[in-house]
Amino acid sequence: MTTMMLRSTVVACSLMCCQPLPAQIPSPAAIRSTAAIPSQLTDANSERKLEALLQKMTLDEKVGQLVQYSAGQTTGPGTGRTDYDDMIRKGEVGALFNITTAHDINAYQRIAVEQSRLHIPLLFGLDVIHGFRTEFPIPLGMASSWDPELIERTARVAAREASASGIRWTFSPMVDIARDARWGRISEGSGEDPYLGAAMARAYVRGYQGARLDATDSIAACAKHYVGYGAAEGGRDYNAVELSERTLRQFYLPPFHAAVDAGAATLMSAFNSLNGVPSSANPFTLKQILRKEWGFQGLVDSDYTAVAELVAHGVANDGPTAARKAFLAGVDMDMVSSLYHENLAQLVRSREVPEMDVDEAVRRVLRVKFALGLFEHPYADETREAAAMLQPESLSLARTAAERSLVLLKNASFSGGAPVLPLSNKARTIALIGPLADDIYDMPGSSSAQGRPEDVITLRMALTQRVGADRVRYAKGSEIIGGSEEQLAEALKTAEQSDVVILALGENAPEMTGEAASRAYLGLPGRQQQLLEKITATGKPAVLLLFSGRPLTLPWAFEHVPAVLAAWFPGVQAGPALVRTIFGETNPSGKLVVSWPRSVGQEPLYYNALSTGRPAVAIDLTHPPRNGDEKYTSRYIDEQNSPQFPFGYGLSYTEYRYGNLQMDKTQLSAKALNDELHGGARTASKAMTISAEITNIGTQAGEETVQLYVRLRGTNIAQPVRALSGFQRIALAPGETRKVTFALGAEAFAFWNEQNRFSVEPARVTLWVSPDSSRGSEAILQITN
Ligand code: BGC
Repeated sequence: MTTMMLRSTVVACSLMCCQPLPAQIPSPAAIRSTAAIPSQLTDANSERKLEALLQKMTLDEKVGQLVQYSAGQTTGPGTGRTDYDDMIRKGEVGALFNITTAHDINAYQRIAVEQSRLHIPLLFGLDVIHGFRTEFPIPLGMASSWDPELIERTARVAAREASASGIRWTFSPMVDIARDARWGRISEGSGEDPYLGAAMARAYVRGYQGARLDATDSIAACAKHYVGYGAAEGGRDYNAVELSERTLRQFYLPPFHAAVDAGAATLMSAFNSLNGVPSSANPFTLKQILRKEWGFQGLVDSDYTAVAELVAHGVANDGPTAARKAFLAGVDMDMVSSLYHENLAQLVRSREVPEMDVDEAVRRVLRVKFALGLFEHPYADETREAAAMLQPESLSLARTAAERSLVLLKNASFSGGAPVLPLSNKARTIALIGPLADDIYDMPGSSSAQGRPEDVITLRMALTQRVGADRVRYAKGSEIIGGSEEQLAEALKTAEQSDVVILALGENAPEMTGEAASRAYLGLPGRQQQLLEKITATGKPAVLLLFSGRPLTLPWAFEHVPAVLAAWFPGVQAGPALVRTIFGETNPSGKLVVSWPRSVGQEPLYYNALSTGRPAVAIDLTHPPRNGDEKYTSRYIDEQNSPQFPFGYGLSYTEYRYGNLQMDKTQLSAKALNDELHGGARTASKAMTISAEITNIGTQAGEETVQLYVRLRGTNIAQPVRALSGFQRIALAPGETRKVTFALGAEAFAFWNEQNRFSVEPARVTLWVSPDSSRGSEAILQITN
């Protein structure tokens, strides 16, 4: 029900039609605790076949279905095993991953289907994170579009291409909430907000799985990493996590719940421990919440060797114990560690693991295989593989996605004139400087499936095509890490001889972002800061394009460079998207989905934080405390509390005015809201509406993401200073005004209370309809008993 409602909502909000949403996307909290069983995984006919098959299986064959190996390029520690053919023939493997061509996949599949005793097809998976061959922007950039419909379409393209190569399972979406830019995997998710994260999670799942999982161009989604992985202490990958149950439920679980509600066929249990219990051996999250509260019927796969890692965590002293703990906690399939393969049958024989639990896990694996139609169509059509890749409409979507992912952070005037961007055609010569200006390797980001460098159009290529080779003067200036004095000197000379400078600086995608790429320093790597300062000192108008998988702490740049655009890693169409944006053929509309820190010491930094008893409000924090009032507040003595740029922030080439904030009610009853929430009174209409009028007061057409925030005061549990509870992308012509209305239901005012029950309490509610999380005029609503 929720899914259906959401689906129509998002389709209606498509930017293609440039209309505001008729109703807002429901809060993740709206997802009921008894989520509908994804019907795609359970049809009566398949269930009959499944049970018949299960009857024929030996214990070893059952265990085989729960075993998964990487038979291609490894993305973690290897097992040393290469005897896949033999294992498949004996029915000892249920799934393989990291094999990327239809030819190779079919070869393995033939062994399973034609030579194993029961002919059960294998399930082939891969990290198809933001595209397969057509690489879209990294997920952090995709989310910056605030456009779930766009994300759904990119996921559909990814599914079409991956399935053409025989891959029917992607380890995506990554729906981990991330509040710390040190964590390298912040690049792979949708940022710090659970409401936005839930909307994106649903979009990815719908895109991958399509209308029917058994369509040959659909792939099963895998929401990961369940759970809390993004809260790694110190932002260090794989590190331990401490979260109260309430924080877990309020911030970290909603995107997973949304993915489950959207019908995600599978979930991946994470590497991290949560409050001392490794996530891959945690019955509370895997059984109580996932199965009992949410009714998840799909398959739980472990992360890469996460079962074996229970020993390093310190909760098992040997392999058999690790296998037993992971399995009994609710991990159905063991990715790579081989501990189920080696121990599970024996654990059943010694009665440490009930065989009926093994049967249940096998059912979950087989259900996914039936749902995907693998028993009827086990093979990929090799003759159609090549044609599915990089289709013109996929590339055009990649360009649109890249354009919408860009976030304009600063656009000041140069020498008192107009803002530097968009660049005027009058600039005769353009210096293009920086290690990322002509870089085909980094544009696709850190996890790029089958993306190939030769598919990438770089900034240099696109700029040269746009203005002609005679007007573009390129100098690399430095390497991403390293570089020489000669490179720097050449870049300086190039800048001095040009009318404007475009600098393309940032991180190295595979080494500095993504998995196992946490950073303690978040500045520009190598000699790039020096390059930036020297080039800026030439006095030429400069535009800085930042390529990164995270926000970078660059206070100098934000003070001295007139225009800065966060480009993330934009994918194969990086160049065309950037050039069109730089020249104003498209107007930037991306907004930050993470708070952008001023200094690393502010991390973890997130907008939806709690207040303190001594909030530093109405105090100038730009200098050290000068008296007791300034000192004894919650602050740093050497840094401001506020981010460099807040969550939700992003500039445009036009300006928007927000006005005429109106609510249809100023009072609601907690009892009525709780009745609605817990099913006592199912009302079709939402509890209240709030609207504002947004006007484009500039001279260019633009698209604006209008955001709705809520704060509750007076509740028994302190609530965040603001929480996103709705957003709508709208298109506005110059001078046009549009009324944007948000309809709020009980879930917008509910939270996890002292008993960890999701409910509404009497409260004084502040609501903002605003362009980002730090601004906007407020309206007040009372929730009475
Ligand atoms: C990552 C997962 C990924 C898996 C398979 C792990 O190291 O944490 O996100 O899906 O490898 O490649």
